[in-house]
Amino acid sequence: MAKQEDLQHIDALLEELRVIEPPDEFRRNAIVNDPEIYARAEDDPEAFWAEQAGKLRWSRPWDTVMEWKPPWVKWFLGGRLNVSVNCLDVHVEAHPDRVAYYWEGEPGDRRTITYRELYEEVCRFANALKGMGVAKGDRVAMYLGMVPELPVAMLACARIGATHSVVFGGFAAEALRDRINDAEAKVVVTGDGAWRRGSIVALKENADAAVEQCPSIEHVVVVRRTGQEVAWSSGRDVWYHDAVDGQEATCPAEEMDAEDPLYILYTSGTTGKPKGILHTTGGYLTGVATTHRLVFDIHPETDVYWCAADVGWVTGHSYIVYGPLANGTTSIMYEGAPDFPDKERWWSIVERYKATILYTAPTAIRTFMKWGHEYPARHDLSSLRLLGSVGEPINPEAWMWYFEYVGGGRCPVVDTWWQTETGAIMITPLPGITRLKPGSATRPFPGIAADVFDEEGWPVGAGKGGYLVLRRPWPSQFRTIYGDPDRYVQNYFSRFGADVYLAGDGARRDEDGYFWLLGRIDDVMNVAGHRLSTYEIESALVDHPAVAESAVVSRPDPVVGEAIVAFVTLKSEIHGDEALIVELREHVATKIGKIARPHSIVLTDDLPKTRSGKIMRRLLRDVAHGRDLGDVTTLANAEVVTTIRSLSAERKDDE
Ligand code: WT7
Repeated sequence: MAKQEDLQHIDALLEELRVIEPPDEFRRNAIVNDPEIYARAEDDPEAFWAEQAGKLRWSRPWDTVMEWKPPWVKWFLGGRLNVSVNCLDVHVEAHPDRVAYYWEGEPGDRRTITYRELYEEVCRFANALKGMGVAKGDRVAMYLGMVPELPVAMLACARIGATHSVVFGGFAAEALRDRINDAEAKVVVTGDGAWRRGSIVALKENADAAVEQCPSIEHVVVVRRTGQEVAWSSGRDVWYHDAVDGQEATCPAEEMDAEDPLYILYTSGTTGKPKGILHTTGGYLTGVATTHRLVFDIHPETDVYWCAADVGWVTGHSYIVYGPLANGTTSIMYEGAPDFPDKERWWSIVERYKATILYTAPTAIRTFMKWGHEYPARHDLSSLRLLGSVGEPINPEAWMWYFEYVGGGRCPVVDTWWQTETGAIMITPLPGITRLKPGSATRPFPGIAADVFDEEGWPVGAGKGGYLVLRRPWPSQFRTIYGDPDRYVQNYFSRFGADVYLAGDGARRDEDGYFWLLGRIDDVMNVAGHRLSTYEIESALVDHPAVAESAVVSRPDPVVGEAIVAFVTLKSEIHGDEALIVELREHVATKIGKIARPHSIVLTDDLPKTRSGKIMRRLLRDVAHGRDLGDVTTLANAEVVTTIRSLSAERKDDE
């Protein structure tokens, strides 16, 4: 007789066999409806990308499409352009009154911003930044919630050639401080606060605490959003509304080299120090504009597109700001939580603006699933024609739920794999031509050479797992780690040689050549779509005076994907209790941000170590997953495992 587990296994296999064809109507009107695009791009990738780049406005054409000195690459050499001109001026000339953003605040306030209005606001703030002494090449940090002033500030930097560094508003003061200092930013743009689930995130307070230890900061620009009293440092601080008041609504755009920096965005790596991913101008814009148009099948006159990510992450940079604006898209931008004031918020937004495209993360989809399909069912979602997913592997159940209950069974779902480093989508369906398999990101985008390698660097056969790699450069590729070129080489281009980009993900390819992403293969975790390093959290824990040692691992979680489990040993004189556990969790929240707060903390007298003294994370992972531990006799302290096991069984979860 079949056991329960076997049945589940068979279910999973059956799910993988499900294939969903592009609906006829979708295919007929799709921008890409000829699979020949793959062969054309493969034949001559440089020509393919040059054709795409040619759709942008250049003030000087490039001389050379690509120059590759592995691992270093440059695109569109000699070409000159300005990103803000492509995102604004081009559209102001053609359709000034088209809406760029329908913005909705969490409390329910709304703003409609046309391309002309956005252009004028960007110019005013660009002039204000210049007035503060910001010049081409200077860095400007941003620490804001989801308010229109965030894209405005980014585009203002792009207009004058300054490099922006957006820090997610959920990060704590220390995380902000480290990022500002690494980039040596001159100005930070923040807010008095941000709305989140009805309460105020104290942005200004955090920014003040950070800036106290940031010698490079000359000015703090403050957007008034939540309205409460904030501390003020006169001379240094300036209200955003005062800064733009009386400024000219035009501002000459700095002519940038294709390879000039556009922005730095910090992301977690395998060490405690976040990496400043550097993106440049011409290649990046080509990559995001092309993928946005073709993956989301953008018809700018009629589509209302909603990417429900936060601008503080790369998804927001590429698919709320630069890609959509370059394509003259009308977007929705929503400030707050999905369950404020109730669990229907998203669906009432889709209905109100008649959204045609929705792009979100599996963790959000699984949360909606948990809440129940009655919430989307209460709203008219018939305007939707395409759905997207990003940030982590999407399990077939969540995929099918999204397809059925949000998409009404008529919208293709594009599962898009990419990273902060890749700048743009790399593995994805093209919705008018790709047969979808729930749970698979399907195929590399045209021109992208993705592969799966074994330990030795040989492509693995169908059905086998291995390391996901990219075998040739692409225009939106990051150019380096800011201030740390060695780490760029070491981290990404040493495992399989300088001409092979190591993504850090595991993957499997099936007999149709479809890619199935298997999650990270390094010490990077993906918690609710947020990228965190185990080491970063361990450092935050060890920083607490009571902690001697810590080891952080993750365990699978039905909603957030990976939940954080911390094993902690205390200094000998300290007695651990519930109160201390609460304190440790809060300590991590103050050091990094709430997103990094461990879901469970297990206090233990010792951690399992090899004879050479290395903490056995693999074993702790097995404990956290509740798996069989196998042979532990090679450990220096085998007996500790039994203790840890019983301890972690006692404390399943404290959420
Ligand atoms: C990591 C990159 C790309 C924007 C958001 C995250 C995971 C991302 C998928 C997907 C499976 C995915 C990978 C990747 N990831 N998209 N569709 N299927 N995994 O950007 O913070 O740089 O994280 O997110 O593990 O390496 P990021």
